[in-house]
Amino acid sequence: MTHEKIFHSAIFSSSIAYDLFQWAVGAHRFRRLVAKQYICSQVGEHILDVGCGTAEILQFLPGVNYTGIDPNQRYIQSARSRYAGRHVTFRCASVSDLHSGQLLRFQKALALSMLHHLDDAEAQHLCRLLVELMQPGGQFIAIDPCLTESQSRIARFIINSDRGSYVRSSEEYRALVQPFFSHVQSEIRQDLLHIPYTHHIMICKA
Ligand SMILES: C[S@@+](CC[C@H](N)C(=O)[O-])C[C@H]1O[C@@H](n2cnc3c(N)ncnc32)[C@H](O)[C@@H]1O
Repeated sequence: MTHEKIFHSAIFSSSIAYDLFQWAVGAHRFRRLVAKQYICSQVGEHILDVGCGTAEILQFLPGVNYTGIDPNQRYIQSARSRYAGRHVTFRCASVSDLHSGQLLRFQKALALSMLHHLDDAEAQHLCRLLVELMQPGGQFIAIDPCLTESQSRIARFIINSDRGSYVRSSEEYRALVQPFFSHVQSEIRQDLLHIPYTHHIMICKA
């Protein structure tokens, strides 16, 4: 493990430290902006969130039919109790365990800070699945940390300390999804958090 990853693991081993960290970096604002500017959900829309974590994004998606998937049982339990009473389904599973027969069709699929946890084979499995399940006019929205030549050294340090082992460049993210989707629009943002950070946003259509 690199010293960056040891630093990162130490911070995230405590939930209080994790919450404080989320507040300090502006994670709440980040999700609000992502929901408003990129997800643009409609009431009644079917949304599939892969690697949903504790489904924090759901507070910004009013009235949707939401399915969240994550391999971490503690995250799924926490999301289930938090959102009981809403139109939600949670499943504890990894991308590699999923097949299309288990899932409903959707209008929007999300992978928020998740693709960089998947190796190429797993990411390709996910894309195949999404194309199969996406309703006409549907979208796959993927947001991840990104390495660029021009980013600051602080941003690069923070991104290199991420727990995901597959942080990619914009070209690499696009090359991953392009064989599966006929239209891929991507954007780099440096202004979504309170700290120096580089996000890569992809909107993919079948
Ligand atoms: C940085 S967190 C993001 C969580 C959530 N999407 C959010 O924006 O708050 C990455 C999530 O990806 C999940 N994850 C990692 N590997 C995965 C896999 N193979 N299949 C599905 N989810 C995975 C982790 O459990 C974790 O909850």
